[in-house]
Amino acid sequence: MRTKYAAGNWKMNMSFEDGQILFSEVTNMVKDEVVNPNVKVVMGVPAPYLSSFSKLINTEKVSIAAQNCYPKASGAYTGEVSVPMLKSAGVEYVIIGHSERREYFNETDAFIAEKVDAILAEGLTPIFCCGETLGQREEGVHFDFVKGQLTNSLFHLDADALQKVVIAYEPIWAIGTGVTASSDQAQEMHKELRAHLASKYGAEVAENISILYGGSVKPGNAPELFSQPDIDGGLVGGASLDSRGFTDIAKSF
Ligand code: PGA
Repeated sequence: MRTKYAAGNWKMNMSFEDGQILFSEVTNMVKDEVVNPNVKVVMGVPAPYLSSFSKLINTEKVSIAAQNCYPKASGAYTGEVSVPMLKSAGVEYVIIGHSERREYFNETDAFIAEKVDAILAEGLTPIFCCGETLGQREEGVHFDFVKGQLTNSLFHLDADALQKVVIAYEPIWAIGTGVTASSDQAQEMHKELRAHLASKYGAEVAENISILYGGSVKPGNAPELFSQPDIDGGLVGGASLDSRGFTDIAKSF
Protein backbone atom coordinates (compact mmCIF):
# COMPACT_ATOMS: atom_id res chain seq x y z
CA MET A 1 0.00 0.00 0.00
CA ARG A 2 1.26 3.48 -0.87
CA THR A 3 2.30 5.76 2.00
CA LYS A 4 -0.21 8.56 2.55
CA TYR A 5 0.98 12.06 3.40
CA ALA A 6 -0.18 15.19 5.13
CA ALA A 7 2.66 17.51 4.17
CA GLY A 8 2.70 21.09 5.36
CA ASN A 9 4.44 23.90 3.49
CA TRP A 10 4.77 26.89 5.79
CA LYS A 11 6.42 28.95 3.02
CA MET A 12 8.01 32.19 4.37
CA ASN A 13 5.77 32.46 7.43
CA MET A 14 6.10 32.30 11.23
CA SER A 15 8.66 33.75 13.63
CA PHE A 16 11.01 31.28 15.31
CA GLU A 17 8.99 31.42 18.55
CA ASP A 18 5.55 31.10 16.99
CA GLY A 19 6.85 28.38 14.69
CA GLN A 20 8.23 26.41 17.61
CA ILE A 21 4.81 26.47 19.30
CA LEU A 22 3.03 25.42 16.10
CA PHE A 23 5.53 22.65 15.38
CA SER A 24 5.32 21.24 18.92
CA GLU A 25 1.54 21.38 18.95
CA VAL A 26 1.31 19.40 15.72
CA THR A 27 3.84 16.76 16.73
CA ASN A 28 2.14 16.32 20.12
CA MET A 29 -1.33 16.04 18.60
CA VAL A 30 -0.17 13.59 15.95
CA LYS A 31 1.53 11.51 18.66
CA ASP A 32 -1.44 11.50 21.03
CA GLU A 33 -4.43 11.33 18.69
CA VAL A 34 -5.60 8.56 16.38
CA VAL A 35 -3.96 9.00 12.97
CA ASN A 36 -4.06 6.25 10.35
CA PRO A 37 -0.74 4.35 10.81
CA ASN A 38 -0.07 4.53 7.06
CA VAL A 39 0.01 8.35 7.19
CA LYS A 40 3.24 10.33 7.37
CA VAL A 41 3.01 13.90 8.63
CA VAL A 42 5.68 16.17 7.19
CA MET A 43 6.24 19.83 8.07
CA GLY A 44 8.16 22.03 5.63
CA VAL A 45 9.51 24.84 7.78
CA PRO A 46 11.81 27.79 7.02
CA ALA A 47 15.48 26.80 6.66
CA PRO A 48 16.81 28.58 9.80
CA TYR A 49 14.43 26.54 12.01
CA LEU A 50 15.17 23.06 10.66
CA SER A 51 17.91 21.96 13.03
CA SER A 52 16.16 23.21 16.15
CA PHE A 53 12.65 22.00 15.27
CA SER A 54 13.84 18.55 14.18
CA LYS A 55 14.73 17.99 17.87
CA LEU A 56 11.10 18.59 18.87
CA ILE A 57 9.89 15.53 16.97
CA ASN A 58 8.60 12.96 19.46
CA THR A 59 6.94 10.43 17.16
CA GLU A 60 7.95 8.44 14.07
CA LYS A 61 4.78 9.67 12.41
CA VAL A 62 6.27 13.18 12.00
CA SER A 63 9.18 14.26 9.78
CA ILE A 64 10.64 17.62 8.90
CA ALA A 65 11.11 18.97 5.37
CA ALA A 66 13.14 21.75 3.83
CA GLN A 67 11.41 23.95 1.28
CA ASN A 68 14.37 24.10 -1.08
CA CYS A 69 17.99 23.01 -1.59
CA TYR A 70 20.93 23.68 -3.87
CA PRO A 71 22.15 20.71 -5.91
CA LYS A 72 25.90 21.11 -5.22
CA ALA A 73 27.22 19.41 -2.07
CA SER A 74 29.47 22.26 -0.90
CA GLY A 75 31.55 25.15 -2.13
CA ALA A 76 31.42 28.81 -3.09
CA TYR A 77 27.66 29.27 -3.47
CA THR A 78 26.98 32.14 -1.09
CA GLY A 79 23.60 31.95 0.58
CA GLU A 80 22.69 28.46 -0.64
CA VAL A 81 21.97 25.35 1.45
CA SER A 82 23.11 21.90 0.30
CA VAL A 83 21.43 18.55 0.81
CA PRO A 84 24.26 17.18 3.04
CA MET A 85 23.72 20.25 5.26
CA LEU A 86 20.00 19.56 5.43
CA LYS A 87 20.64 15.93 6.24
CA SER A 88 22.99 16.87 9.08
CA ALA A 89 20.19 19.06 10.49
CA GLY A 90 17.76 16.12 10.70
CA VAL A 91 15.84 16.78 7.49
CA GLU A 92 14.23 13.81 5.73
CA TYR A 93 12.21 15.45 2.93
CA VAL A 94 12.90 18.35 0.55
CA ILE A 95 10.15 20.18 -1.33
CA ILE A 96 11.37 21.07 -4.82
CA GLY A 97 9.90 22.51 -7.99
CA HIS A 98 7.23 24.50 -6.20
CA SER A 99 5.48 26.83 -8.64
CA GLU A 100 6.54 29.84 -6.56
CA ARG A 101 10.19 28.89 -7.03
CA ARG A 102 9.65 28.19 -10.72
CA GLU A 103 7.98 31.58 -11.16
CA TYR A 104 9.92 33.95 -8.86
CA PHE A 105 13.34 32.29 -9.03
CA ASN A 106 13.20 31.08 -12.65
CA GLU A 107 13.79 27.46 -11.75
CA THR A 108 13.77 25.20 -14.79
CA ASP A 109 12.87 21.53 -15.16
CA ALA A 110 16.58 20.78 -15.75
CA PHE A 111 17.67 22.55 -12.54
CA ILE A 112 14.96 20.75 -10.59
CA ALA A 113 16.22 17.44 -12.04
CA GLU A 114 19.65 18.24 -10.55
CA LYS A 115 18.02 18.79 -7.17
CA VAL A 116 16.20 15.46 -7.44
CA ASP A 117 19.55 13.71 -7.97
CA ALA A 118 21.23 15.58 -5.12
CA ILE A 119 18.42 14.71 -2.69
CA LEU A 120 18.31 11.03 -3.65
CA ALA A 121 22.12 10.79 -3.45
CA GLU A 122 21.89 11.67 0.26
CA GLY A 123 19.03 9.23 0.90
CA LEU A 124 16.45 11.97 1.48
CA THR A 125 13.03 12.11 -0.18
CA PRO A 126 12.17 14.76 -2.76
CA ILE A 127 8.62 16.10 -2.76
CA PHE A 128 8.48 17.06 -6.42
CA CYS A 129 5.86 19.71 -7.24
CA CYS A 130 4.24 20.13 -10.62
CA GLY A 131 1.12 21.84 -11.94
CA GLU A 132 -0.38 23.97 -14.67
CA THR A 133 -1.55 27.59 -14.87
CA LEU A 134 -5.20 28.51 -15.37
CA GLY A 135 -4.39 29.56 -18.95
CA GLN A 136 -2.93 26.15 -19.74
CA ARG A 137 -6.00 24.44 -18.35
CA GLU A 138 -8.30 26.68 -20.36
CA GLU A 139 -6.31 25.91 -23.51
CA GLY A 140 -6.63 22.21 -22.76
CA VAL A 141 -2.86 21.60 -22.61
CA HIS A 142 -2.75 20.90 -18.86
CA PHE A 143 -2.29 17.13 -19.04
CA ASP A 144 0.55 17.37 -21.55
CA PHE A 145 2.21 20.22 -19.67
CA VAL A 146 2.29 18.45 -16.30
CA LYS A 147 3.30 15.13 -17.84
CA GLY A 148 6.14 17.05 -19.52
CA GLN A 149 7.29 18.37 -16.14
CA LEU A 150 7.55 14.77 -14.91
CA THR A 151 9.35 13.64 -18.05
CA ASN A 152 11.87 16.48 -17.89
CA SER A 153 12.75 16.28 -14.19
CA LEU A 154 12.17 12.62 -13.24
CA PHE A 155 12.38 10.31 -16.24
CA HIS A 156 16.19 10.12 -16.18
CA LEU A 157 15.85 8.09 -12.94
CA ASP A 158 15.86 4.32 -12.86
CA ALA A 159 12.83 2.56 -11.40
CA ASP A 160 14.34 2.12 -7.93
CA ALA A 161 15.17 5.81 -7.67
CA LEU A 162 11.83 6.93 -9.05
CA GLN A 163 10.02 4.99 -6.34
CA LYS A 164 11.77 7.12 -3.71
CA VAL A 165 10.16 10.30 -5.06
CA VAL A 166 6.89 11.78 -3.78
CA ILE A 167 4.99 13.79 -6.39
CA ALA A 168 2.74 16.74 -5.49
CA TYR A 169 0.32 17.93 -8.16
CA GLU A 170 -0.53 21.56 -7.43
CA PRO A 171 -2.58 23.42 -10.03
CA ILE A 172 -1.24 26.98 -9.82
CA TRP A 173 -4.74 28.46 -10.03
CA ALA A 174 -5.65 26.66 -6.80
CA ILE A 175 -2.62 27.68 -4.70
CA GLY A 176 -3.40 30.23 -2.02
CA THR A 177 -6.55 31.28 -3.88
CA GLY A 178 -9.17 29.46 -1.83
CA VAL A 179 -10.21 27.76 -5.09
CA THR A 180 -9.65 24.03 -4.77
CA ALA A 181 -9.61 21.71 -7.76
CA SER A 182 -12.71 19.54 -7.47
CA SER A 183 -11.97 16.01 -6.34
CA ASP A 184 -12.89 14.87 -9.87
CA GLN A 185 -10.48 17.32 -11.49
CA ALA A 186 -7.70 16.32 -9.11
CA GLN A 187 -8.36 12.58 -9.48
CA GLU A 188 -8.43 12.92 -13.28
CA MET A 189 -4.96 14.52 -13.30
CA HIS A 190 -3.52 12.09 -10.75
CA LYS A 191 -4.74 9.16 -12.84
CA GLU A 192 -3.13 10.68 -15.96
CA LEU A 193 0.14 11.17 -14.12
CA ARG A 194 0.15 7.62 -12.79
CA ALA A 195 -0.55 6.33 -16.31
CA HIS A 196 2.32 8.48 -17.57
CA LEU A 197 4.65 6.93 -14.97
CA ALA A 198 3.36 3.48 -15.95
CA SER A 199 4.08 4.17 -19.64
CA LYS A 200 7.78 4.46 -18.83
CA TYR A 201 8.25 2.34 -15.70
CA GLY A 202 5.36 -0.15 -15.83
CA ALA A 203 2.17 -0.32 -13.79
CA GLU A 204 3.72 -1.95 -10.73
CA VAL A 205 6.22 0.86 -10.23
CA ALA A 206 3.59 3.54 -10.91
CA GLU A 207 1.31 1.99 -8.29
CA ASN A 208 4.02 2.45 -5.64
CA ILE A 209 4.40 6.21 -6.06
CA SER A 210 2.58 8.57 -3.72
CA ILE A 211 0.96 11.47 -5.59
CA LEU A 212 -0.25 14.30 -3.36
CA TYR A 213 -2.69 17.05 -4.25
CA GLY A 214 -1.97 20.67 -3.28
CA GLY A 215 -3.96 23.87 -3.66
CA SER A 216 -6.26 25.21 -0.94
CA VAL A 217 -6.51 21.90 0.93
CA LYS A 218 -8.44 22.48 4.17
CA PRO A 219 -9.93 20.28 6.88
CA GLY A 220 -13.30 20.59 5.14
CA ASN A 221 -12.25 19.34 1.70
CA ALA A 222 -9.43 16.94 2.65
CA PRO A 223 -11.60 13.85 3.32
CA GLU A 224 -13.20 13.94 -0.13
CA LEU A 225 -9.93 14.66 -1.94
CA PHE A 226 -8.06 11.94 -0.03
CA SER A 227 -10.77 9.35 -0.71
CA GLN A 228 -9.98 9.45 -4.45
CA PRO A 229 -8.16 6.31 -5.62
CA ASP A 230 -5.09 8.11 -7.00
CA ILE A 231 -4.77 10.90 -4.40
CA ASP A 232 -2.36 9.90 -1.64
CA GLY A 233 -2.65 12.97 0.54
CA GLY A 234 -1.97 16.67 0.40
CA LEU A 235 0.68 19.34 0.27
CA VAL A 236 -0.88 22.01 2.43
CA GLY A 237 0.12 25.67 2.51
CA GLY A 238 -2.12 28.12 4.37
CA ALA A 239 -3.98 25.48 6.38
CA SER A 240 -0.70 24.03 7.73
CA LEU A 241 -0.23 27.21 9.82
CA ASP A 242 -3.02 26.12 12.16
CA SER A 243 -2.09 23.17 14.37
CA ARG A 244 -5.63 21.91 14.96
CA GLY A 245 -6.64 22.25 11.31
CA PHE A 246 -3.47 20.65 9.97
CA THR A 247 -3.74 17.74 12.40
CA ASP A 248 -7.36 17.29 11.36
CA ILE A 249 -6.19 17.13 7.74
CA ALA A 250 -3.73 14.38 8.81
CA LYS A 251 -6.68 12.54 10.37
CA SER A 252 -8.74 12.74 7.16
CA PHE A 253 -7.63 9.37 5.77
P1 PGA B 1 -2.22 26.51 -0.24
O1 PGA B 1 -0.73 26.25 -0.77
O2 PGA B 1 -2.64 25.29 0.51
O3 PGA B 1 -2.11 27.72 0.61
O4 PGA B 1 -3.08 26.72 -1.47
C1 PGA B 1 -0.34 24.99 -1.25
C2 PGA B 1 1.10 25.00 -1.67
O5 PGA B 1 1.56 25.99 -2.27
O6 PGA B 1 1.84 24.04 -1.42
